[in-house]
Amino acid sequence: MGELRKPPLVKGYPLVGSFLELMRDPFHFLTQAARKYGDVFRVRVGPLQFYVLAHPTDVEYVFRTNHRNFIKDKGTRTVLSAVLGQGLVTSEGELWRRQRRLAQPAFQQESIQHYSTIMVDNARQTVEKWRPGEIRDVHADMMHLTLEIVARALFTASVEDQAERVGRALEALMKYWAGPGGMFGWWKYVPTPGTFRFRRAVHELDAVILETVGRRRAGARGHDDLLERFLRAQDADGRGMSDKQLRDEMVTLLLAGHETTAVALSFCFYLLALHPEVDARLAAELDEVLAGKPPAPEHIPRLRYTESVVKEAMRLYPPVPNVAREALEDCEIGGYRVPKGAQIALVQWLTQRDPRWFGDDADTFRPERWDNDLAKRIPRCAYFPFADGPRGCIGNHFAMMEAILILATVAARYRLTLVPGYKLRILPSVTLRPSGGMQMEIHERHQTSGPSPGGRTSPQVVRGS
Ligand code: HEM
Repeated sequence: MGELRKPPLVKGYPLVGSFLELMRDPFHFLTQAARKYGDVFRVRVGPLQFYVLAHPTDVEYVFRTNHRNFIKDKGTRTVLSAVLGQGLVTSEGELWRRQRRLAQPAFQQESIQHYSTIMVDNARQTVEKWRPGEIRDVHADMMHLTLEIVARALFTASVEDQAERVGRALEALMKYWAGPGGMFGWWKYVPTPGTFRFRRAVHELDAVILETVGRRRAGARGHDDLLERFLRAQDADGRGMSDKQLRDEMVTLLLAGHETTAVALSFCFYLLALHPEVDARLAAELDEVLAGKPPAPEHIPRLRYTESVVKEAMRLYPPVPNVAREALEDCEIGGYRVPKGAQIALVQWLTQRDPRWFGDDADTFRPERWDNDLAKRIPRCAYFPFADGPRGCIGNHFAMMEAILILATVAARYRLTLVPGYKLRILPSVTLRPSGGMQMEIHERHQTSGPSPGGRTSPQVVRGS
Protein backbone atom coordinates (compact mmCIF):
# COMPACT_ATOMS: atom_id res chain seq x y z
CA MET A 1 0.00 0.00 0.00
CA GLY A 2 2.84 2.40 0.98
CA GLU A 3 4.27 2.49 -2.55
CA LEU A 4 0.93 3.34 -4.17
CA ARG A 5 0.33 6.94 -5.22
CA LYS A 6 -2.70 9.01 -4.31
CA PRO A 7 -5.03 9.69 -7.26
CA PRO A 8 -4.35 12.80 -9.40
CA LEU A 9 -5.48 16.15 -7.99
CA VAL A 10 -7.55 18.40 -10.26
CA LYS A 11 -5.71 21.67 -10.70
CA GLY A 12 -7.58 24.44 -8.87
CA TYR A 13 -7.08 28.02 -7.70
CA PRO A 14 -5.00 28.99 -4.67
CA LEU A 15 -6.98 28.81 -1.42
CA VAL A 16 -10.41 27.99 -2.89
CA GLY A 17 -9.30 25.07 -5.08
CA SER A 18 -12.21 24.07 -7.38
CA PHE A 19 -14.94 25.68 -5.26
CA LEU A 20 -16.06 28.17 -7.90
CA GLU A 21 -16.30 25.63 -10.71
CA LEU A 22 -18.22 23.27 -8.43
CA MET A 23 -20.67 26.02 -7.50
CA ARG A 24 -21.08 27.14 -11.12
CA ASP A 25 -21.68 23.79 -12.85
CA PRO A 26 -20.58 20.78 -10.82
CA PHE A 27 -21.48 18.14 -13.40
CA HIS A 28 -19.75 19.80 -16.30
CA PHE A 29 -16.71 20.32 -14.13
CA LEU A 30 -16.64 16.72 -12.87
CA THR A 31 -17.26 15.27 -16.34
CA GLN A 32 -14.33 17.25 -17.74
CA ALA A 33 -12.17 16.19 -14.80
CA ALA A 34 -13.02 12.49 -15.30
CA ARG A 35 -12.13 12.81 -19.00
CA LYS A 36 -8.80 14.35 -18.16
CA TYR A 37 -7.79 12.47 -15.03
CA GLY A 38 -9.57 9.09 -15.30
CA ASP A 39 -11.86 7.07 -13.02
CA VAL A 40 -10.32 8.17 -9.72
CA PHE A 41 -9.27 11.74 -8.99
CA ARG A 42 -9.13 14.26 -6.17
CA VAL A 43 -10.87 17.63 -6.03
CA ARG A 44 -9.94 20.34 -3.55
CA VAL A 45 -12.52 22.74 -2.11
CA GLY A 46 -10.82 25.22 0.23
CA PRO A 47 -9.20 23.08 2.91
CA LEU A 48 -11.29 20.00 2.02
CA GLN A 49 -10.41 17.25 -0.45
CA PHE A 50 -12.74 14.75 -2.12
CA TYR A 51 -11.80 11.50 -3.80
CA VAL A 52 -14.17 11.10 -6.74
CA LEU A 53 -14.80 7.54 -8.01
CA ALA A 54 -16.46 7.05 -11.40
CA HIS A 55 -15.90 3.35 -12.15
CA PRO A 56 -18.71 0.91 -11.24
CA THR A 57 -16.23 -1.56 -9.70
CA ASP A 58 -14.93 1.15 -7.39
CA VAL A 59 -18.46 2.27 -6.55
CA GLU A 60 -19.35 -1.34 -5.71
CA TYR A 61 -16.19 -1.64 -3.62
CA VAL A 62 -17.41 1.20 -1.40
CA PHE A 63 -21.08 0.15 -1.24
CA ARG A 64 -20.64 -3.60 -0.98
CA THR A 65 -17.26 -5.31 -1.39
CA ASN A 66 -15.56 -3.47 1.47
CA HIS A 67 -18.52 -1.51 2.91
CA ARG A 68 -17.34 -1.99 6.51
CA ASN A 69 -14.42 0.32 5.77
CA PHE A 70 -16.71 3.28 5.04
CA ILE A 71 -18.99 5.50 7.07
CA LYS A 72 -20.99 8.54 6.01
CA ASP A 73 -18.78 11.47 5.05
CA LYS A 74 -18.03 14.47 7.25
CA GLY A 75 -20.54 16.62 5.35
CA THR A 76 -23.40 14.22 6.08
CA ARG A 77 -22.28 13.86 9.68
CA THR A 78 -22.10 17.60 10.31
CA VAL A 79 -24.36 19.30 7.74
CA LEU A 80 -27.22 16.80 7.41
CA SER A 81 -27.26 15.64 11.01
CA ALA A 82 -27.77 19.26 12.12
CA VAL A 83 -31.32 18.68 10.84
CA LEU A 84 -31.80 14.93 10.69
CA GLY A 85 -30.16 14.23 14.05
CA GLN A 86 -29.48 10.50 14.42
CA GLY A 87 -32.10 9.15 12.01
CA LEU A 88 -31.53 6.35 9.49
CA VAL A 89 -29.65 8.47 6.96
CA THR A 90 -27.13 9.92 9.42
CA SER A 91 -26.66 7.35 12.21
CA GLU A 92 -23.94 4.69 12.31
CA GLY A 93 -23.09 1.47 14.14
CA GLU A 94 -25.44 -0.24 16.57
CA LEU A 95 -28.03 2.58 16.58
CA TRP A 96 -28.31 2.50 12.78
CA ARG A 97 -28.53 -1.34 12.71
CA ARG A 98 -31.31 -1.35 15.29
CA GLN A 99 -33.33 1.37 13.56
CA ARG A 100 -32.87 -0.21 10.13
CA ARG A 101 -34.02 -3.59 11.48
CA LEU A 102 -37.09 -1.92 12.91
CA ALA A 103 -37.99 0.02 9.80
CA GLN A 104 -37.07 -2.61 7.16
CA PRO A 105 -40.26 -4.75 7.34
CA ALA A 106 -42.42 -1.70 6.66
CA PHE A 107 -40.57 -1.09 3.38
CA GLN A 108 -40.58 -4.62 1.99
CA GLN A 109 -42.37 -5.12 -1.30
CA GLU A 110 -45.32 -6.97 0.32
CA SER A 111 -45.77 -4.31 3.02
CA ILE A 112 -45.87 -1.35 0.69
CA GLN A 113 -48.65 -2.68 -1.56
CA HIS A 114 -51.34 -1.13 0.63
CA TYR A 115 -49.81 2.33 0.19
CA SER A 116 -50.70 2.16 -3.49
CA THR A 117 -54.27 3.31 -2.81
CA ILE A 118 -52.94 6.42 -1.06
CA MET A 119 -50.56 7.04 -3.97
CA VAL A 120 -53.21 6.75 -6.67
CA ASP A 121 -55.90 8.61 -4.69
CA ASN A 122 -53.61 11.54 -4.05
CA ALA A 123 -52.33 11.56 -7.62
CA ARG A 124 -55.91 11.63 -8.90
CA GLN A 125 -56.81 14.48 -6.55
CA THR A 126 -53.84 16.40 -7.91
CA VAL A 127 -54.77 15.98 -11.57
CA GLU A 128 -58.41 16.73 -10.76
CA LYS A 129 -57.26 20.27 -10.00
CA TRP A 130 -55.51 20.68 -13.35
CA ARG A 131 -57.28 22.30 -16.29
CA PRO A 132 -56.32 21.90 -19.94
CA GLY A 133 -54.60 25.03 -21.24
CA GLU A 134 -53.37 25.94 -17.77
CA ILE A 135 -49.69 26.54 -17.03
CA ARG A 136 -48.52 25.02 -13.79
CA ASP A 137 -45.33 24.61 -11.88
CA VAL A 138 -45.41 20.84 -12.14
CA HIS A 139 -42.43 20.42 -9.83
CA ALA A 140 -44.27 22.28 -7.07
CA ASP A 141 -47.29 20.02 -7.65
CA MET A 142 -45.12 16.91 -7.43
CA MET A 143 -43.46 18.16 -4.23
CA HIS A 144 -46.83 18.71 -2.63
CA LEU A 145 -48.17 15.36 -3.82
CA THR A 146 -45.21 13.25 -2.67
CA LEU A 147 -45.12 15.01 0.70
CA GLU A 148 -48.77 14.19 1.26
CA ILE A 149 -48.18 10.59 0.24
CA VAL A 150 -45.18 9.98 2.45
CA ALA A 151 -46.87 11.72 5.39
CA ARG A 152 -50.05 9.68 5.00
CA ALA A 153 -48.27 6.39 4.38
CA LEU A 154 -45.80 6.66 7.19
CA PHE A 155 -47.63 8.65 9.84
CA THR A 156 -51.25 8.33 8.68
CA ALA A 157 -52.91 11.70 8.18
CA SER A 158 -51.27 13.35 11.14
CA VAL A 159 -48.62 15.31 9.29
CA GLU A 160 -50.69 15.79 6.19
CA ASP A 161 -52.72 18.54 7.86
CA GLN A 162 -49.42 20.29 8.35
CA ALA A 163 -48.12 19.57 4.83
CA GLU A 164 -48.02 23.25 3.97
CA ARG A 165 -45.85 24.11 7.00
CA VAL A 166 -43.59 21.12 6.50
CA GLY A 167 -43.25 21.82 2.77
CA ARG A 168 -42.15 25.42 3.39
CA ALA A 169 -39.62 24.36 6.02
CA LEU A 170 -38.15 21.66 3.76
CA GLU A 171 -37.91 24.14 0.91
CA ALA A 172 -35.88 26.53 3.11
CA LEU A 173 -33.55 23.69 4.12
CA MET A 174 -32.92 22.65 0.51
CA LYS A 175 -32.09 26.24 -0.47
CA TYR A 176 -29.67 26.51 2.43
CA TRP A 177 -27.96 23.21 1.52
CA ALA A 178 -27.57 24.32 -2.09
CA GLY A 179 -25.21 27.10 -0.94
CA PRO A 180 -22.12 27.09 1.30
CA GLY A 181 -24.29 25.66 4.11
CA GLY A 182 -24.31 22.38 2.15
CA MET A 183 -20.53 22.15 2.36
CA PHE A 184 -19.51 23.65 5.68
CA GLY A 185 -21.07 22.61 8.98
CA TRP A 186 -19.94 25.87 10.64
CA TRP A 187 -21.83 28.02 8.09
CA LYS A 188 -24.95 27.86 10.24
CA TYR A 189 -23.19 30.15 12.75
CA VAL A 190 -22.61 32.86 10.13
CA PRO A 191 -25.40 35.44 10.54
CA THR A 192 -27.02 35.72 7.10
CA PRO A 193 -30.71 35.83 6.12
CA GLY A 194 -30.22 32.28 4.72
CA THR A 195 -28.93 30.86 8.00
CA PHE A 196 -31.70 32.64 9.87
CA ARG A 197 -34.29 31.03 7.57
CA PHE A 198 -32.50 27.70 8.04
CA ARG A 199 -32.77 27.88 11.86
CA ARG A 200 -36.40 28.90 11.66
CA ALA A 201 -37.11 25.98 9.31
CA VAL A 202 -35.51 23.44 11.67
CA HIS A 203 -37.49 24.90 14.55
CA GLU A 204 -40.71 24.67 12.54
CA LEU A 205 -40.08 21.04 11.57
CA ASP A 206 -39.34 20.12 15.18
CA ALA A 207 -42.55 21.76 16.30
CA VAL A 208 -44.73 19.92 13.74
CA ILE A 209 -43.17 16.54 14.39
CA LEU A 210 -43.06 16.77 18.17
CA GLU A 211 -46.72 17.87 18.22
CA THR A 212 -47.56 14.82 16.10
CA VAL A 213 -45.59 12.44 18.33
CA GLY A 214 -47.15 13.99 21.43
CA ARG A 215 -50.67 13.57 20.02
CA ARG A 216 -50.03 9.96 19.11
CA ARG A 217 -48.47 9.09 22.48
CA ALA A 218 -51.49 10.60 24.22
CA GLY A 219 -54.23 9.51 21.84
CA ALA A 220 -55.54 6.46 20.02
CA ARG A 221 -53.11 3.71 19.06
CA GLY A 222 -53.45 0.96 16.50
CA HIS A 223 -52.61 2.94 13.36
CA ASP A 224 -51.05 0.80 10.67
CA ASP A 225 -48.08 3.03 9.92
CA LEU A 226 -44.40 3.42 10.59
CA LEU A 227 -44.84 5.82 13.48
CA GLU A 228 -46.88 3.14 15.25
CA ARG A 229 -44.10 0.62 14.61
CA PHE A 230 -41.53 2.99 16.07
CA LEU A 231 -43.78 3.83 19.03
CA ARG A 232 -44.13 0.13 19.84
CA ALA A 233 -40.45 -0.68 19.40
CA GLN A 234 -38.65 -1.57 22.58
CA ASP A 235 -35.14 -2.52 23.59
CA ALA A 236 -34.42 -5.87 25.20
CA ASP A 237 -34.73 -4.07 28.56
CA GLY A 238 -38.16 -2.73 27.62
CA ARG A 239 -37.11 0.86 26.86
CA GLY A 240 -38.95 2.53 23.99
CA MET A 241 -37.67 5.16 21.62
CA SER A 242 -37.24 8.66 23.00
CA ASP A 243 -39.18 11.57 21.50
CA LYS A 244 -35.87 12.82 20.12
CA GLN A 245 -35.19 9.53 18.27
CA LEU A 246 -38.75 9.46 16.93
CA ARG A 247 -38.38 13.05 15.76
CA ASP A 248 -35.11 12.22 14.00
CA GLU A 249 -36.62 9.22 12.16
CA MET A 250 -39.71 11.12 11.10
CA VAL A 251 -37.84 14.16 9.82
CA THR A 252 -35.47 11.79 7.99
CA LEU A 253 -38.28 9.88 6.29
CA LEU A 254 -40.17 13.02 5.37
CA LEU A 255 -37.07 14.53 3.85
CA ALA A 256 -35.63 11.40 2.24
CA GLY A 257 -39.01 10.19 1.05
CA HIS A 258 -40.62 13.12 -0.66
CA GLU A 259 -38.38 15.48 -2.58
CA THR A 260 -36.44 12.58 -4.17
CA THR A 261 -39.53 11.07 -5.78
CA ALA A 262 -40.85 14.51 -6.74
CA VAL A 263 -37.57 15.27 -8.53
CA ALA A 264 -37.68 11.92 -10.35
CA LEU A 265 -41.20 12.70 -11.60
CA SER A 266 -40.45 16.29 -12.60
CA PHE A 267 -37.59 15.09 -14.77
CA CYS A 268 -39.82 12.40 -16.28
CA PHE A 269 -42.26 15.11 -17.39
CA TYR A 270 -39.45 17.33 -18.60
CA LEU A 271 -37.89 14.58 -20.71
CA LEU A 272 -41.25 13.38 -22.04
CA ALA A 273 -42.01 16.93 -23.19
CA LEU A 274 -38.71 17.01 -25.08
CA HIS A 275 -39.30 13.57 -26.63
CA PRO A 276 -42.84 13.35 -28.06
CA GLU A 277 -42.11 9.92 -29.57
CA VAL A 278 -41.40 8.52 -26.08
CA ASP A 279 -44.48 10.27 -24.74
CA ALA A 280 -46.61 8.67 -27.48
CA ARG A 281 -45.28 5.19 -26.73
CA LEU A 282 -45.93 5.73 -23.03
CA ALA A 283 -49.50 6.84 -23.74
CA ALA A 284 -50.06 3.76 -25.92
CA GLU A 285 -48.88 1.45 -23.13
CA LEU A 286 -51.11 3.18 -20.59
CA ASP A 287 -54.14 2.92 -22.90
CA GLU A 288 -53.52 -0.74 -23.45
CA VAL A 289 -52.75 -1.79 -19.88
CA LEU A 290 -55.09 0.48 -17.93
CA ALA A 291 -57.92 0.62 -20.45
CA GLY A 292 -59.27 3.79 -18.81
CA LYS A 293 -59.07 2.46 -15.22
CA PRO A 294 -56.93 3.98 -12.44
CA PRO A 295 -53.56 2.25 -12.10
CA ALA A 296 -53.05 -0.33 -9.34
CA PRO A 297 -50.10 -2.48 -8.20
CA GLU A 298 -51.29 -5.44 -10.28
CA HIS A 299 -50.76 -3.32 -13.42
CA ILE A 300 -47.15 -2.58 -12.56
CA PRO A 301 -45.58 -5.76 -14.02
CA ARG A 302 -47.20 -4.84 -17.36
CA LEU A 303 -46.23 -1.16 -17.23
CA ARG A 304 -42.76 -2.02 -18.46
CA TYR A 305 -42.25 1.04 -20.61
CA THR A 306 -43.58 3.34 -17.86
CA GLU A 307 -41.00 1.83 -15.52
CA SER A 308 -38.27 2.30 -18.13
CA VAL A 309 -39.21 5.99 -18.46
CA VAL A 310 -38.73 6.42 -14.69
CA LYS A 311 -35.43 4.51 -14.70
CA GLU A 312 -34.10 6.39 -17.69
CA ALA A 313 -35.05 9.77 -16.20
CA MET A 314 -33.21 8.84 -12.99
CA ARG A 315 -30.21 7.74 -15.03
CA LEU A 316 -29.87 11.15 -16.68
CA TYR A 317 -31.06 13.20 -13.71
CA PRO A 318 -30.33 11.20 -10.55
CA PRO A 319 -32.57 12.67 -7.81
CA VAL A 320 -29.77 12.24 -5.24
CA PRO A 321 -26.86 13.44 -7.34
CA ASN A 322 -24.03 12.05 -5.25
CA VAL A 323 -23.39 9.76 -2.34
CA ALA A 324 -20.45 10.38 -0.03
CA ARG A 325 -18.44 8.31 2.42
CA GLU A 326 -15.34 8.48 4.62
CA ALA A 327 -12.66 5.75 4.67
CA LEU A 328 -12.02 4.29 8.13
CA GLU A 329 -8.67 2.73 7.14
CA ASP A 330 -6.21 3.09 4.25
CA CYS A 331 -7.36 1.15 1.20
CA GLU A 332 -6.58 0.71 -2.48
CA ILE A 333 -9.11 1.91 -5.03
CA GLY A 334 -8.55 1.72 -8.79
CA GLY A 335 -4.82 1.21 -8.26
CA TYR A 336 -4.46 4.28 -6.02
CA ARG A 337 -3.93 4.74 -2.31
CA VAL A 338 -6.95 6.13 -0.52
CA PRO A 339 -5.91 7.05 3.03
CA LYS A 340 -7.84 6.71 6.26
CA GLY A 341 -10.13 9.74 6.69
CA ALA A 342 -10.45 10.36 2.90
CA GLN A 343 -13.78 11.89 1.87
CA ILE A 344 -15.16 9.93 -1.07
CA ALA A 345 -17.78 11.06 -3.58
CA LEU A 346 -19.68 8.64 -5.82
CA VAL A 347 -21.29 10.76 -8.49
CA GLN A 348 -24.16 9.10 -10.38
CA TRP A 349 -24.06 11.75 -13.09
CA LEU A 350 -20.57 10.58 -14.09
CA THR A 351 -21.09 6.83 -13.95
CA GLN A 352 -24.63 6.78 -15.30
CA ARG A 353 -23.75 8.88 -18.35
CA ASP A 354 -20.59 6.96 -19.16
CA PRO A 355 -20.51 5.68 -22.79
CA ARG A 356 -18.57 2.60 -21.66
CA TRP A 357 -21.76 1.29 -20.00
CA PHE A 358 -24.50 3.17 -21.85
CA GLY A 359 -23.06 3.53 -25.35
CA ASP A 360 -22.35 6.56 -27.51
CA ASP A 361 -25.85 7.90 -26.90
CA ALA A 362 -25.35 7.82 -23.12
CA ASP A 363 -26.54 11.45 -22.86
CA THR A 364 -29.75 10.71 -24.78
CA PHE A 365 -33.11 9.95 -23.18
CA ARG A 366 -33.98 6.53 -24.59
CA PRO A 367 -36.10 4.37 -22.25
CA GLU A 368 -35.91 1.47 -24.76
CA ARG A 369 -32.33 0.92 -23.68
CA TRP A 370 -33.76 -0.82 -20.56
CA ASP A 371 -35.44 -3.47 -22.76
CA ASN A 372 -33.96 -6.97 -22.69
CA ASP A 373 -32.63 -6.68 -19.17
CA LEU A 374 -30.05 -3.94 -19.65
CA ALA A 375 -29.52 -3.96 -15.88
CA LYS A 376 -28.07 -7.48 -16.18
CA ARG A 377 -25.75 -6.53 -19.04
CA ILE A 378 -24.04 -3.60 -17.35
CA PRO A 379 -21.79 -3.73 -14.28
CA ARG A 380 -23.82 -3.79 -11.07
CA CYS A 381 -23.01 -0.25 -9.94
CA ALA A 382 -23.04 1.41 -13.37
CA TYR A 383 -26.52 2.58 -12.33
CA PHE A 384 -27.13 3.45 -8.68
CA PRO A 385 -29.85 6.07 -8.15
CA PHE A 386 -30.71 4.38 -4.84
CA ALA A 387 -27.08 3.65 -3.86
CA ASP A 388 -26.49 -0.04 -3.04
CA GLY A 389 -25.41 -2.43 -0.29
CA PRO A 390 -26.44 -2.29 3.38
CA ARG A 391 -26.80 1.53 3.33
CA GLY A 392 -28.78 1.54 0.10
CA CYS A 393 -32.13 3.35 0.03
CA ILE A 394 -34.68 1.67 2.28
CA GLY A 395 -37.48 3.31 0.30
CA ASN A 396 -36.49 2.13 -3.20
CA HIS A 397 -39.50 -0.17 -3.78
CA PHE A 398 -41.82 2.45 -2.28
CA ALA A 399 -40.34 5.12 -4.54
CA MET A 400 -40.48 3.05 -7.73
CA MET A 401 -44.08 2.01 -7.10
CA GLU A 402 -45.01 5.61 -6.29
CA ALA A 403 -43.28 7.08 -9.34
CA ILE A 404 -44.82 4.52 -11.71
CA LEU A 405 -48.34 4.95 -10.28
CA ILE A 406 -48.15 8.75 -10.33
CA LEU A 407 -46.65 8.90 -13.81
CA ALA A 408 -49.31 6.49 -15.06
CA THR A 409 -52.13 8.49 -13.42
CA VAL A 410 -50.96 11.79 -14.88
CA ALA A 411 -49.84 10.61 -18.32
CA ALA A 412 -52.95 8.50 -18.97
CA ARG A 413 -54.94 11.71 -18.82
CA TYR A 414 -52.63 14.58 -19.67
CA ARG A 415 -49.77 15.43 -21.96
CA LEU A 416 -47.46 18.12 -20.60
CA THR A 417 -45.41 20.54 -22.67
CA LEU A 418 -42.77 23.01 -21.56
CA VAL A 419 -43.71 26.66 -21.80
CA PRO A 420 -41.94 28.44 -24.67
CA GLY A 421 -38.53 29.68 -23.59
CA TYR A 422 -38.37 27.42 -20.53
CA LYS A 423 -34.75 26.76 -19.70
CA LEU A 424 -33.87 24.06 -17.22
CA ARG A 425 -31.58 25.27 -14.46
CA ILE A 426 -30.48 22.65 -12.01
CA LEU A 427 -29.87 23.36 -8.35
CA PRO A 428 -27.73 20.52 -7.06
CA SER A 429 -28.34 20.34 -3.34
CA VAL A 430 -28.96 17.16 -1.39
CA THR A 431 -31.27 16.48 -4.32
CA LEU A 432 -31.08 17.59 -7.93
CA ARG A 433 -33.97 20.01 -8.15
CA PRO A 434 -35.07 22.16 -11.09
CA SER A 435 -34.35 25.67 -9.88
CA GLY A 436 -37.37 27.97 -10.16
CA GLY A 437 -39.65 24.95 -10.70
CA MET A 438 -40.88 23.49 -13.96
CA GLN A 439 -43.48 25.50 -15.83
CA MET A 440 -45.54 23.24 -18.04
CA GLU A 441 -48.75 23.47 -20.01
CA ILE A 442 -51.45 20.89 -19.48
CA HIS A 443 -53.11 19.21 -22.49
CA GLU A 444 -55.97 16.75 -22.33
CA ARG A 445 -54.68 13.50 -23.85
CA HIS A 446 -57.85 12.30 -25.51
CA GLN A 447 -59.41 15.56 -26.62
CA THR A 448 -60.89 15.54 -30.10
CA SER A 449 -60.67 19.30 -30.64
CA GLY A 450 -58.83 22.19 -29.00
CA PRO A 451 -55.32 23.55 -29.05
CA SER A 452 -52.83 21.98 -31.42
CA PRO A 453 -49.95 20.03 -29.82
CA GLY A 454 -47.82 22.46 -27.85
CA GLY A 455 -50.17 25.34 -28.74
CA ARG A 456 -51.79 27.54 -26.10
CA THR A 457 -54.97 29.44 -25.51
CA SER A 458 -54.39 32.50 -23.29
CA PRO A 459 -52.52 30.60 -20.58
CA GLN A 460 -53.06 31.37 -16.94
CA VAL A 461 -50.03 31.14 -14.74
CA VAL A 462 -50.85 29.02 -11.72
CA ARG A 463 -48.29 28.14 -9.12
CA GLY A 464 -48.52 24.58 -7.86
CA SER A 465 -50.60 24.55 -4.73
C1 HEM B 1 -36.71 8.32 -6.36
C2 HEM B 1 -36.70 8.35 -5.06
C3 HEM B 1 -35.51 8.09 -4.17
C4 HEM B 1 -34.18 8.12 -4.45
C5 HEM B 1 -33.51 8.44 -5.78
C6 HEM B 1 -33.47 7.80 -3.23
C7 HEM B 1 -32.08 7.70 -3.12
C8 HEM B 1 -31.41 7.35 -1.96
C9 HEM B 1 -29.98 7.23 -1.86
C10 HEM B 1 -28.98 7.47 -2.99
C11 HEM B 1 -29.69 6.86 -0.59
C12 HEM B 1 -28.30 6.61 0.01
C13 HEM B 1 -27.78 7.86 0.68
C14 HEM B 1 -26.42 7.65 1.29
O1 HEM B 1 -25.97 6.53 1.46
O2 HEM B 1 -25.78 8.66 1.62
C15 HEM B 1 -30.94 6.77 0.14
C16 HEM B 1 -31.06 6.43 1.45
C17 HEM B 1 -32.25 6.45 2.14
N1 HEM B 1 -33.50 6.66 1.61
FE1 HEM B 1 -33.95 7.01 -0.31
N2 HEM B 1 -34.38 7.60 -2.23
C18 HEM B 1 -35.64 7.75 -2.75
C19 HEM B 1 -36.84 7.60 -2.10
C20 HEM B 1 -36.97 7.29 -0.77
C21 HEM B 1 -38.22 7.10 -0.09
C22 HEM B 1 -39.59 7.15 -0.75
C23 HEM B 1 -37.91 6.88 1.23
C24 HEM B 1 -38.83 6.63 2.41
C25 HEM B 1 -40.10 6.77 2.38
C26 HEM B 1 -36.46 6.91 1.37
C27 HEM B 1 -35.78 6.74 2.55
C28 HEM B 1 -34.41 6.60 2.63
C29 HEM B 1 -33.72 6.33 3.89
C30 HEM B 1 -34.35 6.19 5.27
C31 HEM B 1 -32.35 6.20 3.58
C32 HEM B 1 -31.21 5.88 4.54
C33 HEM B 1 -31.02 4.38 4.55
C34 HEM B 1 -29.93 3.90 5.49
O3 HEM B 1 -28.84 4.48 5.52
O4 HEM B 1 -30.18 2.90 6.15
N3 HEM B 1 -35.93 7.16 0.12
N4 HEM B 1 -31.98 7.07 -0.74
